[in-house]
Amino acid sequence: MFKPAMLIAVVVLASGCATIDPKAQVAPTYRSISATILSVSCVQCHGVLGGYSFDTYDHTMKAVSPGDPDSSRLYFVVSKGKMPKLGTKLSAPQVQAIRDWIIAGAPDN
Ligand code: HEC
Repeated sequence: MFKPAMLIAVVVLASGCATIDPKAQVAPTYRSISATILSVSCVQCHGVLGGYSFDTYDHTMKAVSPGDPDSSRLYFVVSKGKMPKLGTKLSAPQVQAIRDWIIAGAPDN
């Protein structure tokens, strides 16, 4: 009887802690950027073969300076419309999502 209630209390406390940082609430996650932008618009050309690669977090970070979008190659090429090289350019909200994620420190989340 007591145990499940304690478990719920722990979960509620833990999720409460996770929402303390206001930036963490608004900034998109690496996972969402990877799933909705990089894997859709970049990975077909930038996969595992040499050069820039956007298939994993570690590879993506070679084009990212955490906290500083203007020094991040990833942000530079999409904000200038240089990439994707062919096909549909990213939308303004997608470019903004990448910027916000980098400003938030480009966490692996
Ligand atoms: C149709 C293939 C293709 C797609 C899709 C594509 N790229 Fe590229 N990308 C290239 C090629 C080819 C180069 C190297 C030649 C050049 O720089 O134009 C390149 C170069 C780059 C560079 C290095 C050049 C620089 O100026 O720093 C970055 C960073 C980059 N791409 C990021 C991306 C990102 C991010 C996406 C997705 C939003 C993307 N690319 C989508 C083909 C592609």
